[in-house]
Amino acid sequence: MKRRSFVLAGLGAGGLLAAAWLRPGDRGQPHDAYFQALNQELKARGPMRPALVIDLDRLDHNIEVVRRFLARSGKQLRLVEKSLPAPDLLRYIGERIGTRRLMSFHQPFLNHDARLFPEADILLGKPLPVRSAQLFYQRHRGPFDPARQLQWLIDTPARLQQYLALGQGLGTRLRINIELDVGLHRGGVGDSQALAPLLQLIADHPQHLEFAGFMGYDPFVGMNLPELLGTQDELLAKVMALYQRQVDFTRQRFPALWRAGLTLNTAGSPSYRAHERESLSSEVAIGTGLLKPSHYDLPSLQEHVPAVYIATPVLKHTGALRIPALDEQSRLLSWWDVNQRETFFIYGGNWMADPVSPAGLQLSGLYGRSSNQELVNGSPAVGLAVDDQVFLRPTQSEAVLLQFGDLLAVRGGRIVERWPVYRES
Ligand SMILES: Cc1ncc(COP(=O)(O)O)c(C=O)c1O
Repeated sequence: MKRRSFVLAGLGAGGLLAAAWLRPGDRGQPHDAYFQALNQELKARGPMRPALVIDLDRLDHNIEVVRRFLARSGKQLRLVEKSLPAPDLLRYIGERIGTRRLMSFHQPFLNHDARLFPEADILLGKPLPVRSAQLFYQRHRGPFDPARQLQWLIDTPARLQQYLALGQGLGTRLRINIELDVGLHRGGVGDSQALAPLLQLIADHPQHLEFAGFMGYDPFVGMNLPELLGTQDELLAKVMALYQRQVDFTRQRFPALWRAGLTLNTAGSPSYRAHERESLSSEVAIGTGLLKPSHYDLPSLQEHVPAVYIATPVLKHTGALRIPALDEQSRLLSWWDVNQRETFFIYGGNWMADPVSPAGLQLSGLYGRSSNQELVNGSPAVGLAVDDQVFLRPTQSEAVLLQFGDLLAVRGGRIVERWPVYRES
């Protein structure tokens, strides 16, 4: 062989080797026993449209993890209603953990809470416009007593003035919890200078305002921040130093407002575990971590297991991926990537969620997304047929849970309850 052709042959072989190395492997696998059981159940008794599945066995595991934390830390739990937005889901968790405390973020849901949970103790998780608060009182009926059982969250003197006027107009007393900025920088009171006028206004109007405590939310303590920004211990120490400063200031300058039993709320799912190492706060707020969608795959929630999935049927099975206009030339794609050899159109799609079962399903960047009939590709090994279910794992819970009508609660692979989600009115 001439030297030149020898070099070319070498390059060709090298190219083929490189191509073989770059070529995607087969990622497809059929449903495992867990998802296969759910698939059978949903085909037999499900709605055969997109559905939100809550696995009660897995939820029970997460409840137990939180229950043990509460026993160790001596703290109370406040359930984050917006992250678990179905009254029966909240009731299920509340009864097992033994809490009547809720954190609400939305006037229509707040009115539902007050009617459905007349024994609840409710803290707002964000400061609502005063008109929203007014609407709450207008619509409220029943034995839930806002003057005893509800805490409005307040961030600025201007808003507190508005709430004071509301309380005066209604002839009632509003319980006020003050939002602290403990490092999240999402508003709230950052120093004692900003706190003083709020406490003064409350002290000056005991007929219409009552100090109920503080709320300092610190999810960044449990996020995967680069070590450079501080270890979890360092971040927690900073948060608690800020919290302690406001507590000390209140006790020293406004001793008449201070009493045992104030609500000293902190944390969220990402950070609650860290609060085992401090004893200032009286309670933690947790919602999403009990269902563990994928954005909560954090080291701090390592003991929690995923308990929420979207299930949706396959409507069509059309073979290898074909892109409009490329038509038969699309075959190059499925020739190259075995994971594009089967195409499935599912019922619905474009959710904040990623396919998880069968393993190896992928969306097509070339074909695009659809909320009506979304395309997913897989290799023949995924073993899907029309009417089989595809399972997706939501990235978050609060918006996703509201998109599917009744939640399907399953236990041991069987649908055992159907739980309506919150309505907007
Ligand atoms: C004030 C406050 N506390 C706690 C939480 C924690 O909620 P979750 O546990 O669902 O992350 C949130 C979430 O947005 C929040 O805004």
